[in-house]
Parts: sequence; C-alpha cells; structure tokens
Amino acid sequence: MNKANELKRLHKKWLANCTCELREIATQGVPGDGNANAQIVFIGEAPGAREDREGRPFIGSAGKFLDEMLESIKMRREDVYITNIVKYRPPNNRDPLQSEIAACAKWLEEEIKLIDPALIVFLGRHSMNHFFPHEKISEVHGTLLSTKYFAKPRRFLPLYHPAAALYNGSLREVLKTDFKKIPRLL
Ligand code: URA
Repeated sequence: MNKANELKRLHKKWLANCTCELREIATQGVPGDGNANAQIVFIGEAPGAREDREGRPFIGSAGKFLDEMLESIKMRREDVYITNIVKYRPPNNRDPLQSEIAACAKWLEEEIKLIDPALIVFLGRHSMNHFFPHEKISEVHGTLLSTKYFAKPRRFLPLYHPAAALYNGSLREVLKTDFKKIPRLL
C-alpha cells in the first residue's frame, strides 16, 4: 500500500476510535491533510469553527495566512502536510486541555512516523510544548530544536501561531522572517 492510502487508513481508524472527550461536542474530527510524502509537517493547535464545519485543518483566516507564507518560500499546500495536536474543536476555541492533547497524541505520533518528514514545524506554543515542555516560544521561535522522538532523532522549527500573528503586527513580521528559514533547513 502506498503512503497516501496508509494515511487514509490511519485517519479512518482514529476517526472511529479516538477517545478525546471533545468528540462529544465537535461536529467532526479534523485529520491532518496534505502530501503523505512531504518533507515538512506543520503542527498547529486544534481546529477552529470553519475547520470543524468542513473537516480540514487551517482553512480559515490563519490558514490563508499560512498559504501566503508558503507561497513566499515557493511552496504550496500540496507540497507539505498540515495537522494539529488536537483533532477536535475545543468549545469557543479555548486552549486544548492536557487530557485532550494526551487523547490525540497517539494519532499524531502515527502520522509523523508514517510521513517521516525531514523537518517538523510547530505553529504556536501548544504543539511545541507537547514535544518541548520547558521551552518558551518567545525565546526559541525561529531556532532549530532537535530531540529523539520515539527513538528517532528529529528536527523541529518552532514558529508563532499564524492566528496570533494576524492580530499582532510585530509578531506577523517575526513570523514571516522565521518562516523564510524553512528552505535552508531542508
Ligand atoms: N488553528 C489551528 O491551530 N489549527 C487549525 O486547524 C486552524 C486554526
């Protein structure tokens, strides 16, 4: 089976079996989306209202900004893979709880193992702190981190979340500058 089909199977399995309590209130689960052979995996926080309605990650205003930044490094969504640490929308877009992150963690782990990217890009502190609990996004944004993840050394680039940058002009410029480092890290 090719990777794209394996990924479809993986999402089908988790959509049926994920134990995240948000399942009770979300419209649907929002699996990762994009190229199963991508060199880069982006990890956001959790779906928002539009993602919850349509079942795809980063399709609202933060997603539009992400598309613009991809374009700035001559990439398209079809070239990368985009997912979230939590696959169900938290009520009123509140921060995900540890229990919700833990319930979705195995799903994320299987996505990463299957895609096996050269670089993992965190969109915001929530996804970064799942892998690096002691780092602060204000201190490490735009710098390469590495650690073993399930026995395999991996490289990570923490970035500010595009939604935060949309509401803060100075963060927006920092995020755009950090984003442009991606091609050099591949
Ligand atoms: N913000 C996220 O972190 N993820 C999405 O899918 C949409 C907005």
